[in-house]
Amino acid sequence: MKILLTGGAGFIGSHTATVLIEKGYEIVILDDFSNSKPGAVARLEQIVGREIALEHVDLCEKTAVEDVFSRHKIDCVLHFAGLKAVGESVEKPLLYYENNLVGTLNLLHVMADMGVKKFVFSSSATVYDSRNPVPFMEEHSIGPVNPYGWTKSMIEQILLDLSASDPEWAVTLLRYFNPIGAHPSGLIGEDPQGIPNNLVPYVAKVAAGQLATIHIWGDDYDTPDGTGVRDYIHVMDLARGHLLAVEYLKTHKGCKVFNLGTGKGYSVKEVISAYEKACGKSLPAQIDARRAGDLATVYANVDLAEKELGFTAELGIEQMCADSWNWQKKSLVFDE
Ligand code: UFG
Repeated sequence: MKILLTGGAGFIGSHTATVLIEKGYEIVILDDFSNSKPGAVARLEQIVGREIALEHVDLCEKTAVEDVFSRHKIDCVLHFAGLKAVGESVEKPLLYYENNLVGTLNLLHVMADMGVKKFVFSSSATVYDSRNPVPFMEEHSIGPVNPYGWTKSMIEQILLDLSASDPEWAVTLLRYFNPIGAHPSGLIGEDPQGIPNNLVPYVAKVAAGQLATIHIWGDDYDTPDGTGVRDYIHVMDLARGHLLAVEYLKTHKGCKVFNLGTGKGYSVKEVISAYEKACGKSLPAQIDARRAGDLATVYANVDLAEKELGFTAELGIEQMCADSWNWQKKSLVFDE
């Protein structure tokens, strides 16, 4: 089985690639390198010990996508590609809607034309209406609050409608919670451009001495220590979730949504202390005002993924922080 990974040079795509290759799948990576580097693919090749087919293509260029499908006999697509910065999406909504929706529509058109109808979509917990009680369940109502979240939710709807129109489609919508950590080799990991928005990449840069102080966005939430609680999931567990989704599609048609998280929440302060343990030093942190749009507590109900996919997250917060730090230390020397 040959699998196309759009955005396969990025954080989640590259880790998923290692798991698929290890399991014997042939893969093709398609990426426009707008938020990733070809060097990540070279390091991925080092991990798996073989060459990987790589297509430098923007999904918004439909003829280039057609060309990829005409040269590779693709059986299944894992669609990671997309712009994903919440704040930027608020500033540049047209860019987000155009890139994420047009890219996906081109991809789906080409797939339909070529008769390739197995699809795994990288969705997000951000699609849930924040008024739902935690833990979030797949049947809870949808209510994104920024253009990025809307693109995820709109693509979910497109895939639902497409599956309803043609029973040959087999689709899973994977709603990720907070993926962190890195490959145990330390050769690939999350590599955000500029100052990170997300907690763990920011903490990693403070630990590496590249940023001065961690900013804790609010300690007056209704949580045990007052700081925000999230469902962090190790990216290698998440990658395994994709493998299980691909296997599920071999026997299940239609469109099915799954949360991918651990079902457990950790506060900002708990994450910082796990990171301090991982890097062996105490990290400067200060309390600042709440960040607009943040919720107190978000975590997943993971029963459905366990029951249907056989997925359970195995790696805990200590391992997530240890692997993040291992990658952070090594990545300082990658000059690409
Ligand atoms: N936080 C800080 N300081 C920081 C960064 C974050 O205190 O420098 C706090 C936040 O307030 C929050 C927690 O750390 O309580 C996690 O924040 P992240 O930015 O790491 O993650 P979010 O839960 O806000 O967002 C993530 C993804 C989004 C996705 C969302 C889905 O980044 O893309 O989960 O719930 F949409």
